[in-house]
Amino acid sequence: QAQADPLRPRYHFTSPAAWLNDPNGVAQWDGLYHLFYQYNPEGPFHDRIHWGHAVSEDLVRWRDRPIALSPGSGPDREGCWSGVLVDDGGTPTIVYSGRADGRELPCLAVGSANLDVWTPLDRPVIDAPPEGLEVTEFRDHCVWREAGRWRQLIGSGIVGAGGTALLYESEDLRSWTEVGPLVVGDGQPVRLDDIDWTGTMWECVDFFRLAPGPDGETGPPDADSADPHLLVFSAWHENITLRPFIAVGSYDGRRFSIDRVQRLDLGGRHAYAPQTFRDDHGRRVLWSWMQEGRDDAAQATAGWSGAMTIPRRLWLDADGGDAAGVVRAEPVAEVESLRSLPLLPLPAPTGQREFAGTAADVEIAARIETGDRLDVVLFATEDGAEHTDLRVHRRAGGVLEIVLDRESSTLAGGCDTSPHAGEVRSTAVETQIRILLDASSVEVFVDGTALTSRVYPTRPDASRIRIESRGGATVTSARAWRLEGTEQPGRVLRP
Ligand code: FRU
Repeated sequence: QAQADPLRPRYHFTSPAAWLNDPNGVAQWDGLYHLFYQYNPEGPFHDRIHWGHAVSEDLVRWRDRPIALSPGSGPDREGCWSGVLVDDGGTPTIVYSGRADGRELPCLAVGSANLDVWTPLDRPVIDAPPEGLEVTEFRDHCVWREAGRWRQLIGSGIVGAGGTALLYESEDLRSWTEVGPLVVGDGQPVRLDDIDWTGTMWECVDFFRLAPGPDGETGPPDADSADPHLLVFSAWHENITLRPFIAVGSYDGRRFSIDRVQRLDLGGRHAYAPQTFRDDHGRRVLWSWMQEGRDDAAQATAGWSGAMTIPRRLWLDADGGDAAGVVRAEPVAEVESLRSLPLLPLPAPTGQREFAGTAADVEIAARIETGDRLDVVLFATEDGAEHTDLRVHRRAGGVLEIVLDRESSTLAGGCDTSPHAGEVRSTAVETQIRILLDASSVEVFVDGTALTSRVYPTRPDASRIRIESRGGATVTSARAWRLEGTEQPGRVLRP
């Protein structure tokens, strides 16, 4: 039973039951937040995909709504794949990838005023990928208004060259003209040597502008703006490497020139297929799918699969040196409204840094000099049989590195226990570490660099959290709270 499942996240968004993947149509409409998502009501596996739907006032407490899109008899008969919600002069409109005959084409549906009831068109709005380009895939959408017309990016890849995003434009969202690949070099789609990020296709492309600074203005792409433009994409490489990236560069209305590319999350596939929106606080908010790291049999037994990350606010670092141009992420402030019981500091003995929690928010500030390391042991049993280890380490040369070691995270077989690691580009003297734990998920933020992962402890006592300094690392402050769950595990929603 879902209620009794200790591995089901409690304060993260999950579907009522069965399968969830990408966040779709993330938006705020008349003040209310909407989250649509890739959903299979038939079971915890990816098959004929529907769009689930939920609403929230505060981004952290959600109410389920009826299924928004279901495969029909036309161009989406094999699934309603990822897409976006746009405001067509007051009419809610979804642009998504309809799947039929084993391939996807851009489709459109028009919604009721409360965004509950959707009517799809019976034909795709683009009939085929562009002629004269040998594309690997053609799906997923980013749609905005610019200079009095609609513009759209479609995720794609070009055989022999790598991932790209194809630009289109339209007067009415229903008939589109191809402009060309957004990202090119020498007339060819960009190809860097590092296959890690070019992939064979870019899934879930998302494009926007964001001014530098902690509260930088953000909005849709605009060729007349001198602000940096950011392209989020999930690089897919023959199902081996699945990684979200973010590129920062400039946009001239036709092309995007990349200045730098960074990993959007060091957990790779565990924070996949991100999509962003601007809310009415002016924030750029990002959602990602926390994909499972356990095998199909374990997911079938659990009856559910997949959760969303806590929504994150993105901003662009304007500091100089190593920090310049780095995209930073932090959990939206609303998550603090879920804090209940304080877990740390403990009343006595002072200085003790061990406590218990499996749904917790931990905040640590520390000075970590070259050669020093700060460890945070998570989901640990009393006897050490299970534990997940976060290490924040400053290497020679001053580079700060994060490692999440999952080797002893579970006694169960069939789980991915490979480590996640990466560098933090920061000039801060004091390192800020934030950890959100929730049953089988770990989200770490070190000076705004995110690392998301999944772990599957088996023992009921795998709830110890311990902060340990190695070398001269000094903790200047450490606080923690229990976070209250808002999820109501429920029945399967059916069309
Ligand atoms: C990314 C993705 C998208 C696609 C959807 C299908 O995870 O593969 O490219 O639209 O999931 O569910």
